[in-house]
Amino acid sequence: MNDALSAQPTPAAAGATAPAAPATPAAMAPLDARIIAVTSGKGGVGKTFVSANLAAALTRRGLRVLVLDADLGLANLDVVLNLHPKTTLHDVFTGKAKLDEAVIKAPGGFSVVLAGSGMVEYSRLTPEVRNEFFNVIQTLAPHYDVVLLDTGAGISDVVLFSVSLAHEVLIVATPEPTSLTDAYAAIKVLTTQQKRQHVHMVVNQAARAGDGRAITGQLQQVLDRFVTTDSGRPMRLIHMGDIPADPSVREAVMRRQLLMQQMPGCPAALAVAQLANKLETTLLKPASNR
Ligand SMILES: Nc1ncnc2c1ncn2[C@@H]1O[C@H](COP(=O)(O)OP(=O)(O)OP(=O)(O)O)[C@@H](O)[C@H]1O
Ligand SMILES: [Mg+2]
Repeated sequence: MNDALSAQPTPAAAGATAPAAPATPAAMAPLDARIIAVTSGKGGVGKTFVSANLAAALTRRGLRVLVLDADLGLANLDVVLNLHPKTTLHDVFTGKAKLDEAVIKAPGGFSVVLAGSGMVEYSRLTPEVRNEFFNVIQTLAPHYDVVLLDTGAGISDVVLFSVSLAHEVLIVATPEPTSLTDAYAAIKVLTTQQKRQHVHMVVNQAARAGDGRAITGQLQQVLDRFVTTDSGRPMRLIHMGDIPADPSVREAVMRRQLLMQQMPGCPAALAVAQLANKLETTLLKPASNR
């Protein structure tokens, strides 16, 4: 287990560690720049959809937003946003391009840094990948109010490392039992490895209003019994909202457009707008009120 994987960003960590196992960027960034990892246990549950549309909704609320495609080997944020980047994180990591060349504007008005797809070198967490990735976030975070990391699914060390760079974690799960079992496994790992005391949860593709809260409640009951944090208290799930299953989501993806722009009044878009509201008032309020 490496240090970076178990490190949770705290201001106290600022400047305390050597370059090989650096202090987290969250610690270096101004207190108002929040880094939020959007992650999941199971794949295909809607992380990229949530990241992109949440970014658009937060931008509409006047925030400076960056989405970083942290799904290094299997990136597809570019597909969802219909972008054809000349420069990706891969070019930055390999010294072929400067970081500012990789920051581009997405249709929703927010900034994105895209990753390449199909690159096997990012299936393993090497010291190079770790340091490059860390440097990218450390350099960019101070320029934004919020940085969303659209991570890969699961508990591979690459995913866990990108999550470790975030102040807060937003777990996306669907009501399917397989998604919930995998969410439980991921949360357990975040508790033990990253010493997290809480994570946020959004239930996507909910069939009925209220389903998500009930599901979060059930998962909390299991955590209460089996997963204890360092402080001796159970891991706490903070329910951030439900997004209904909505055919407009698929339509927007097929057209490679943002749902928030394409169909801002559809049920899923309204739910994402509500999620942005909740996120802003709970996670992004001034550091002094947090
Ligand atoms: N609320 C929803 N209603 C209907 N369909 C949805 C909803 N959310 C997501 N989907 C469908 O699920 C697909 C997968 O979503 P997405 O690519 O965001 O998942 P992901 O978690 O990022 O996947 P991966 O783990 O591969 O990165 C979308 O293309 C869309 O068709
Ligand atoms: Mg994705």
